[in-house]
Amino acid sequence: MSKTIINGPQPRPSILDIDPYVPGKSGPKTGKTFKLSSNESPIGASPKAVDAFAAAVSDLALYPDGGASALRDAIAKRHGLKAERIVCGAGSDELLQLLAHAYLAPGDEAIYSQFGFLVYPIAIASNGATAVVAPEQNHVADVGAILALVSAKTKMVFLANPNNPTGTYLTAEQVKRLHQGLPQHVLLVLDAAYAEFVMTNDYEAGTALVEAHDNVVMTRTFSKIHGLAALRLGWAYCPPAIADVLNRIRGPFNVNLPALRAGVAAIEDQGFMATAQAHNSKWLSWLADEIKKLGLGVTPSVGNFLLVHFADAEKAQAADAFLAARGIIVRRVDAYGLPKALRVSVGTEEGNKAFIAALTEFMK
Ligand SMILES: Cc1ncc(COP(=O)(O)O)c(C=O)c1O
Repeated sequence: MSKTIINGPQPRPSILDIDPYVPGKSGPKTGKTFKLSSNESPIGASPKAVDAFAAAVSDLALYPDGGASALRDAIAKRHGLKAERIVCGAGSDELLQLLAHAYLAPGDEAIYSQFGFLVYPIAIASNGATAVVAPEQNHVADVGAILALVSAKTKMVFLANPNNPTGTYLTAEQVKRLHQGLPQHVLLVLDAAYAEFVMTNDYEAGTALVEAHDNVVMTRTFSKIHGLAALRLGWAYCPPAIADVLNRIRGPFNVNLPALRAGVAAIEDQGFMATAQAHNSKWLSWLADEIKKLGLGVTPSVGNFLLVHFADAEKAQAADAFLAARGIIVRRVDAYGLPKALRVSVGTEEGNKAFIAALTEFMK
């Protein structure tokens, strides 16, 4: 991206090197469309969360509880955590930004994985630090490669587990090995936005590591399995000293009142979560099988999306245009250095079938 020439106030120089995050396209407003470009919930949110949000309309004149006490208690109860170590944010994005802001300064380095979530380099550069990229093996984060890049300047490591846009994950053992290889002063941020979709028993979102160490934070979101992306709600599970730091710098009312109320209802609705998990597991494997039948590569995913590999970048681009013309919106991942691939989110039954039908037509 070209740099804007500014004659007035100057931002931190590294900020003008940032490529703004480009969200998934929404597609045309006319005709039937299936938005499979933002890893959103295809079954919406829990009806109880929707009701809680609607009821909040009578309290719009009030400030929210700045301490998010009811929500932190509900999360703590649901996950068996300590409420005082939970910090809520306007999406986990806000918490990732706050962590970078608190722990990174010019001259510092922060490591993230080659196909890691693109918010990390933005958060790193926003604070004048240098992003160091660890190569991956087969679109999976490589613990050895990350540890090999740790230097005296390293202050943070960001790991999305599972990762977006690849859908791959590191096992609890691998994450433990990563943590063990890091010096005590390096903060390991485990971004577990897709944790609830993982059905393998060798995975751990990060709770145990956070409880056992002073240098690990886990971030979670209500945007994915809970279907509350519009409300911008996330949380971090932190060592006490890091929770204290985040509470000093976050906005005093950083999470809005309807989001807090809907979040409590969502986390308590385990039945809805089970339905969302079952929907995802069923259609994730169906989509992967159908894509493979078409002769396309697909990265094994434990998230709510799949990375589909085409023969070359032109073919991926043509497929994207072909699908879009039929109202099926998927995600280009060129910005991740994956121009030959497209990312598709698990949708409704109708959306998934429409995607496969259109992709089949394209491959003819
Ligand atoms: C890996 C990862 N982390 C964090 C987020 C941000 O989620 P939120 O909506 O909570 O800001 C996303 C959203 O797509 C994501 O893919």
